[in-house]
Amino acid sequence: MQEADKIWFNGELVDWHDAKVHVLSHGLHYGTTVFEGIRAYDTEIGTAVFRLDDHLARMEASAGIYYMPIPYSREQLRSAVHDVVRTNGLSECYIRPIVLRGYGTMGLFPLDAEVDVAIAAWVWGAYLGEHGIEHGIRAKIASWRRIGSTTIPATAKAGGQYLNSILAKVETHRAGYEEAILLNEAGYVADGSGENIFIVRDGVLVTPPLQASILPGITRDSVMTIAEDEGVDIVEREIARAELYTADEVFVTGTAAEVTPIREVDDHEIGEPGPITKLLQQRFDAAIHGRDPKYLEWLDVVAATSEVPGEEAAAR
Ligand SMILES: Cc1ncc(COP(=O)(O)O)c(C=O)c1O
Repeated sequence: MQEADKIWFNGELVDWHDAKVHVLSHGLHYGTTVFEGIRAYDTEIGTAVFRLDDHLARMEASAGIYYMPIPYSREQLRSAVHDVVRTNGLSECYIRPIVLRGYGTMGLFPLDAEVDVAIAAWVWGAYLGEHGIEHGIRAKIASWRRIGSTTIPATAKAGGQYLNSILAKVETHRAGYEEAILLNEAGYVADGSGENIFIVRDGVLVTPPLQASILPGITRDSVMTIAEDEGVDIVEREIARAELYTADEVFVTGTAAEVTPIREVDDHEIGEPGPITKLLQQRFDAAIHGRDPKYLEWLDVVAATSEVPGEEAAAR
């Protein structure tokens, strides 16, 4: 991991190595954390955070599901994200806000534990590799099923539920693949370990619906908006496993992975990225870098100085 200088921790910018929680923090023991993965890009109009408001809204929703009151407003968190990017002098970065049940109580009733909030940012390149973005990755269906919504709500981005993704990721990595695809409890395609999934069949873009136990991805939503604007037909429906093998194109989307093509699933060759995948990659790349005026509203430009008077001084 490429360290930066400062992390925003409970309202203050502290040194990277001083952003610490107690080993008896509730979230460490029971996974009672919610978090986001966000990216900022060096765009035509300056460094800008991609769909920051949507990410913060999803984090609030995740926290709400787990009865975790976030002790900062949306605007305070937004300005904290800006401060972290600016203070660390980052023109492009990955941003990780986390809200966790902290120290003070043990046992499964978490509501008496304090809620800590941290926001870190650092330079993080292509999650599934530059080669993967260009030529596609090899993926395998994991033997682990994606947790169903009757067990843990898939719509929340909560720490504990990533144990599911980690089992799938390690299993498929050890088998020699670059990403895991999880089926849901009904046996239909759900998500990658950290991405949403799309197939293209006869020119139509198909992706599992929210009811298929998927995370409502912000990149998924962006790609669907772009596809619609480009006149590509989109269908949200259940996808059977073998449809991945016979699809014309397959790709995954996520903040970390961006738009990464899949060239092989379970040793069935799909091939090099196809025309719709490439089109969506290009249009998405233009959107995140501020080259398409249609999507400028997705960019939250980081101002050169704090927008909240006196805030940076107070944080120091
Ligand atoms: C399981 C899962 N699905 C999908 C996504 C993609 O979501 P987003 O595009 O909002 O990053 C992620 C990443 O957060 C994820 O962990």
